[in-house]
Amino acid sequence: MLAGAGALTVGGYASIAEASSATEAAPLINPVVRQRADAQVFKHTDGYYYLTGSVPEYDRLIIRRSRSLAGFTTADETVIWRRPTQGKLGGYIWAPELHWFDDAWHMYFAAGDKDQPFRIRTYALRCDGPDALTGKWSLLGKVETPWDTFTLDSTSFVHKGVRYFCWAQKEPGIDTNSNLYLAPLATPTTLAKPPVRLTVPTLDWEIRGFKVAEAAAPLIRNGKVFIAYSASATDDRYCLGLLTADAEADLMSQASWSKSPVPVFVSSEETRVWGPGHNSFTVDEQGRDVLVFHGRDYKAIKGDPLFDPNRHTRVQRLYYKPDGTPDFGVPAGAGEIPDRFSPLDRPGAFLRYEGAGLSVGDGPLATTQLRQKAGPAGQVTLEPILQPGHAVRVVGGKATIGEAKPGDKAALFKRVKGLADAKGVSFQALDGGYLLHRDGAVVVGPAKDAKARAAATFLVS
Ligand code: AHR
Repeated sequence: MLAGAGALTVGGYASIAEASSATEAAPLINPVVRQRADAQVFKHTDGYYYLTGSVPEYDRLIIRRSRSLAGFTTADETVIWRRPTQGKLGGYIWAPELHWFDDAWHMYFAAGDKDQPFRIRTYALRCDGPDALTGKWSLLGKVETPWDTFTLDSTSFVHKGVRYFCWAQKEPGIDTNSNLYLAPLATPTTLAKPPVRLTVPTLDWEIRGFKVAEAAAPLIRNGKVFIAYSASATDDRYCLGLLTADAEADLMSQASWSKSPVPVFVSSEETRVWGPGHNSFTVDEQGRDVLVFHGRDYKAIKGDPLFDPNRHTRVQRLYYKPDGTPDFGVPAGAGEIPDRFSPLDRPGAFLRYEGAGLSVGDGPLATTQLRQKAGPAGQVTLEPILQPGHAVRVVGGKATIGEAKPGDKAALFKRVKGLADAKGVSFQALDGGYLLHRDGAVVVGPAKDAKARAAATFLVS
């Protein structure tokens, strides 16, 4: 029955087209949920998003439910299970994940024992009813793997009708904290065959502080199966790596998998996010791919990072390189999640910034990401994510990037529906001129004819 759980790929939907209708969601502002690390977001066929994650006390399992990603910020939080005060599972409770299969909710999580809180093994709960927040959750048992060792950060996904289980574990004879493993499930707590070892942390960026490969997160897109994972110690050196297999390959063959030689997502001094990792994937209300991850607002940590509570849940949209692999860019930083703006008259190019310059073209993802920050009277400012506190400013009919203090009128735009396409947006400066693309440059002026209106219309992605 496990195998027939539907072709779930990202966020519980078989395709982006199935994602819920494009409702105008409230502004999504990072951090989305404070002090929830290891966040997993599951978009269910009931139209709700579900979020779970580690709490700083590592003592309970929680769920938030919301019709929108932004709703998680203020959503009530339901405790569905608390660790016992004694004995097994009475230790640290880490990194839960919520999954729907076999017509029931399942929660996988890692738990230590009361007398040995770091003797971490992986367990499964099942809910007795369709409502994860009000149903009764019962322990199915420990997930059986080939070794009785440190086992954590499990996830599950379906590919070609097979439900897989992917987890991190210490393997006897390998001198690491954890490696990644994959196997099909026979039951929610037993493997249908011996696992394949997907990766061992050996590269410099995987072994900083601790030799770690954990927090596997699957993403099936563009004819590939990607597994993002987290590496190194959970301080500012924590980062994401990426494994890739062809979707037609045998996922149980180690030879099917390749590993990015460099990390795909790391701390950013510019955007002030450190230790980004332990991610999951979902789709937003418009069906666009979203990266969910945690990160801190500061680099220096007092004491053991594992007991620093400020790994907050963050989200940002996920984009793709021309070859179809995900482009993680940089962690976007605090504030509205950023967008990209492609002029209608030059598809595939974007508003992009470099220092004080603003142009239309392409380049590193982060240089094309600007956040629309709410201003007075429904106006917005456009803040480049690599230059917090700066904005697109119009002075003397020219648009440049400059420092924008609160209330800076030169940085305020009236945002209107696209002059040439209502699906897009146009930005009118206070002098009445519009931001316009012209031969790779950005100018400000009237949009009197169809050509100018197209140049003043930006499709948001
Ligand atoms: O957040 C607790 C644990 O720390 C998570 O299970 C793991 O991903 C991280 O290293």
